[in-house]
Amino acid sequence: MSKQTERIQELIELRSKARLGGGEKAIDKQHARGKFTARERIQMLLDEGSFEEFDMFKLHRCHNFGMEKKQFLGDGVVVGSGTINGRLVYVFAQDFTVNGGSLSETMAQKICKVMDMAMKMGAPVIGINDSGGARIQEGINALAGYAEIFQRNILASGVIPQISGIFGPCAGGAVYSPALTDFTLMMENTSYMFLTGPAVVKTVTGEDVDQESLGGASVHSTKSGVTHFTAATEEEAIAMIQQLLSYIPQNNQETTPIVECTDPVDRLEDSLNEIIPDNPNQAYDMYQVIGAITDNGEFFEVQPNFAQNIIIGFARFNGRSVGIVANQPNKFAGVLDCNASRKGARFVRFCDAFNIPIVSLVDVPGFLPGTGQEYNAVILHGAKLLYAYGEATVPKVTITLRKSYGGSHIVMSCKQLRGDLNYAWPSAEIAVMGGSGAVAVLYAKEAKAKKEAGEDAAAFIKEKEDEYTKLFANPYNAAKYGYIDDVIEPRNTRFRIIRALEQLATKSLTNPAKKHGNIPL
Ligand code: HXC
Repeated sequence: MSKQTERIQELIELRSKARLGGGEKAIDKQHARGKFTARERIQMLLDEGSFEEFDMFKLHRCHNFGMEKKQFLGDGVVVGSGTINGRLVYVFAQDFTVNGGSLSETMAQKICKVMDMAMKMGAPVIGINDSGGARIQEGINALAGYAEIFQRNILASGVIPQISGIFGPCAGGAVYSPALTDFTLMMENTSYMFLTGPAVVKTVTGEDVDQESLGGASVHSTKSGVTHFTAATEEEAIAMIQQLLSYIPQNNQETTPIVECTDPVDRLEDSLNEIIPDNPNQAYDMYQVIGAITDNGEFFEVQPNFAQNIIIGFARFNGRSVGIVANQPNKFAGVLDCNASRKGARFVRFCDAFNIPIVSLVDVPGFLPGTGQEYNAVILHGAKLLYAYGEATVPKVTITLRKSYGGSHIVMSCKQLRGDLNYAWPSAEIAVMGGSGAVAVLYAKEAKAKKEAGEDAAAFIKEKEDEYTKLFANPYNAAKYGYIDDVIEPRNTRFRIIRALEQLATKSLTNPAKKHGNIPL
């Protein structure tokens, strides 16, 4: 064997060794848990044969607690570049088979390298987290590594899309990297995220709680809103990440990818002419409206189980991506509250950062009243949504289907928040408040006097309510002032949105120069 052949043989052997991560036993253990390894996950995620791995031979430099003898090629993370549907992405996947995927200084350097490359190339970063947290033997160096990653997450925010898959444990301060990224996806039953685990919780607060109830996917998808997506299997999770990427651009300088549209742009949807119930207090399902107007009825929903009174997600009109923000009359009458406001606000800001037009479907009776909301700072959360819409410079098309009252009318992309094209259905009610509330304020004294005089106060109130409703509970009062650009037939909605977006495709609007705004956090 020539020297050169020997060297090549050595390389091949080293590569095979590195590909085994923490070894066959650890891989078997990972599989027995129903989990794939870091490399298997990357293989599923990327286009076949596109993975270009970096730092396969990198080793940690820790000599504490006998760590010098515990070396695995590449340490506990697999990193590199590849393509998804032909588009460049950068990936890192923590390898639980190596020291439980715990983060060493070396691993942090590998992760930072792909993040820096992604920024230079203007491509998304996808991180797959499966880790026991900071590598305990490395102490402060592991913490410094986390901080280096967080700093990059912050600088990359709004420049390149960042997606975090949580495919195993993600605990302690490690949760802050996913939290700083744009989208988080958690695995049902096999992943969790919390700042302090059950044992510490028990010591500090005395509370008995298991991992799932503290920070499982079920908690973060319904109660906290920390995760945007959940998946039952890793295959499903990978498919969701791929689907998400299909809607978004590579970076903040690019526009969204365009796909061929097979759904007629002028398709009339007669069912929409019938969807609004005669009784204004009766609900209907906003998903039906979304399904009726988007290309092929497709809608990729974000946070489907959190704050269900507002619906957010991606869809396409004539092959172009949009972000949809819609009130859901079927859930708490579509009212805005703390959670719905912050859910909507973060989504609007993502769309604005990445040049994705926003279509808002409005049917909102107002903000939810009460101490529960006020004590939880609904003023600030509501202001977030207001700020996000008002700050957004992407094309904004707003359709008011039915109610649009008071502060919530303003917040939901009204004309004065630089809504570009604001349309209303004939069923729209755009006013300061509903009829009964308005009459209770305006005619309280007269009603009381009539009651005391033995007259029919109820009939009087009804008459005034009817008068108010006739005057204000319609789209024409707002249209009269140009606050609504047109009143449209519901069945034309798809066509009108497509035409609006086409018109707005060359929109150019910039905000005043500043270091950054001060969104009410
Ligand atoms: C070093 C670690 C480790 C860690 C796990 N391992 N976590 N090594 N540092 N943080 C090692 C284990 O020793 C073991 O090594 C291997 O990984 C697999 O771990 P197991 O415990 O056997 O696996 P499992 O039973 O599935 O339990 C997984 C786990 C548990 C729940 C994650 O390992 C665990 O609780 N780890 C510690 C979690 C933690 O407290 N981390 C520090 C958080 S503080 P061998 O050699 O036996 O295979 C933090 C601060 C971040 O992260 C701050 C950022 C700002």
